[in-house]
Amino acid sequence: MPKTTRSSTGSSSRRSSKSSGKSSSSRSSGSSSTRSASSRSKSRGSSRDMEDSIASNDHFNIIEVLLLDHSYLKDCIDVLKDEEEDTKVKMKYAKGFLDALEKHSTGEKKALYAPLQEVEDLRPHILESLIEHGIVDDKVKKLSKKLSSARTLDEEMEAELKVLAEIVEHHVEEEEDELFPKMRKDIDSEILNQMGYQFMVLRQFTEKDLEDSPELIDEMEMISQEAIPVKNFMNVTHEYFTSQY
Ligand SMILES: [Fe+2]
Ligand SMILES: [Fe+2]
Repeated sequence: MPKTTRSSTGSSSRRSSKSSGKSSSSRSSGSSSTRSASSRSKSRGSSRDMEDSIASNDHFNIIEVLLLDHSYLKDCIDVLKDEEEDTKVKMKYAKGFLDALEKHSTGEKKALYAPLQEVEDLRPHILESLIEHGIVDDKVKKLSKKLSSARTLDEEMEAELKVLAEIVEHHVEEEEDELFPKMRKDIDSEILNQMGYQFMVLRQFTEKDLEDSPELIDEMEMISQEAIPVKNFMNVTHEYFTSQY
């Protein structure tokens, strides 16, 4: 796992290199998504091209994208667990943590857990993870509300944030150490790429979130064009997991 460093803005300086090791030749051209309103067949062709280019683009691999998102969560966890850390710094990280967690959880439940629930071998793990997500989601909601009206962190909020950080740390470790290796081994890379595309659309990374991940600039551009609805890929991945397992 690449190490990240903290920035004064509370945004993580993310990993700087891509671990998939794929060449940029697999990237799609942004112009391929341009659609002509006057030509339906051309539009369908262009849409298929886009789907193909997403499926063959390993920068979308959901495991790599989730590792990237986890790296920011881990930065926040380090700060929130540190009893020596300044309260103002903790407050800044707490806001970033809660915001990123909410988006991460939304994307992960739909793009990762929903399709993997179809895999019988993974089902117990996935159900357990979804219960953890439910606990985290509730805590995020309550803490976000408290934080929005607080000027500074009180003792109780600090303790609650620390507990939440520990739950997320455990959960992320399980995903990275148990689930991701199984996924790498068993799931076709094209499906992992399609799942990553779904996650990125749902996660709504900002440019700031990805400022240290230049390898994802083209992918962000494709997503901002909203050329391929997530539900298209949801059908494909559902079909894959139900027929394959
Ligand atoms: Fe998760
Ligand atoms: Fe995760």
